[in-house]
Amino acid sequence: MKKPQELVMEALKSAARNNQMKDAFQQSKELYPLLLKAAKRYVAGEVRADAIAVAENLLAKDYQVSLEFIGENTVHLEECQKAVKEFMTLIDEMGTLSLKQTVSFDLSHIGLSIDKEIAYKHLLQLVQHANTHGIILMVSMEESSKTDAILDIYKKITAQYDNIGITVQAHLYRTEMDLQELVQYPGKIRIVKGAFQEPSTMAMERSEALNRRYLQFIDQLIKWNHPFSIATHDEALIQEMEQRHYFHQSNVEIEMLYGIRPDLIRSLQRKGYNCKVYLPYGQEWYLYLCHRLAENPENLYLAVTDMLSTSLLDSNQGY
Ligand code: FDA
Repeated sequence: MKKPQELVMEALKSAARNNQMKDAFQQSKELYPLLLKAAKRYVAGEVRADAIAVAENLLAKDYQVSLEFIGENTVHLEECQKAVKEFMTLIDEMGTLSLKQTVSFDLSHIGLSIDKEIAYKHLLQLVQHANTHGIILMVSMEESSKTDAILDIYKKITAQYDNIGITVQAHLYRTEMDLQELVQYPGKIRIVKGAFQEPSTMAMERSEALNRRYLQFIDQLIKWNHPFSIATHDEALIQEMEQRHYFHQSNVEIEMLYGIRPDLIRSLQRKGYNCKVYLPYGQEWYLYLCHRLAENPENLYLAVTDMLSTSLLDSNQGY
């Protein structure tokens, strides 16, 4: 029999993909603002100005930031073009404010779910624009069915521009080979454990073996002296890497999602390590909120507290 925790996780994952439920929440005058209060723990806000304001606060405290306009699996060209326009404006505003930081996104937000060539053209447009402002783009990694297409597009672009990096998922078996190839390019590599449910023939589950594999990839990147980002909230893994003195190297950064373990990243930042906060914004926060709750059902308690609180959550959140 499944434990209540597992049942909650499954329910949240299916709620995340349930468009009818999402529409019902978004159209409800009562529920929408309540859920938005819970989402604000993990997203800077619904508009760009919210994200820039939180980013400036974090930068003032010596964190780096990676901004994302949330969205994925966009199947209408117009929506993709709107997303590209938003990213272009974000880059402009960051440039005007001299925020030489990172912009992250899913290629399926800018055309990959329609056609690979559309995603390539949009990415080229973004990377050229970002390059003029000294901004780095970081491509996220999506379901394994898209890995080949994402890597192909990334490799074509990074051969021309060096202000772009790529995310790889330690849980995929193929990543061992992909890494060997990706280090031939200059772009930063962000290592995550992997967020998507994949068949056991392709990926490992959360386990000690996966943690060892994660460490093994980090060891290799250290040895190759390649720029990379350690994107995890796993305290035991972080302690292990700290003991190995990896965080003193200038090519290494630690990156965590906004609202997840701010206490942990703060303690690392105070030790002088290079720490970055991944800061999403936008109206498509419903799916993002469900994912954060499903990853750690204890977050449900926080969500209830946030929803019932009479005041808005302080965006500083202890960073
Ligand atoms: P793990 O899931 O094993 O958790 C370890 C510990 O971290 C937990 O025991 C808990 O203490 C803490 N923790 C983890 N999640 C938490 C939560 N939601 N709330 C509270 N505590 C939590 N994935 C992907 O497939 N493609 C991508 O492009 C990206 N991009 C990305 C960027 C950045 C900056 C980060 C930090 C993560 C991603 N991810 C991602 C997500 C990643 O794959 C992974 O699903 C999450 O980071 C959770 O995994 P952990 O490494 O934290 O370990």
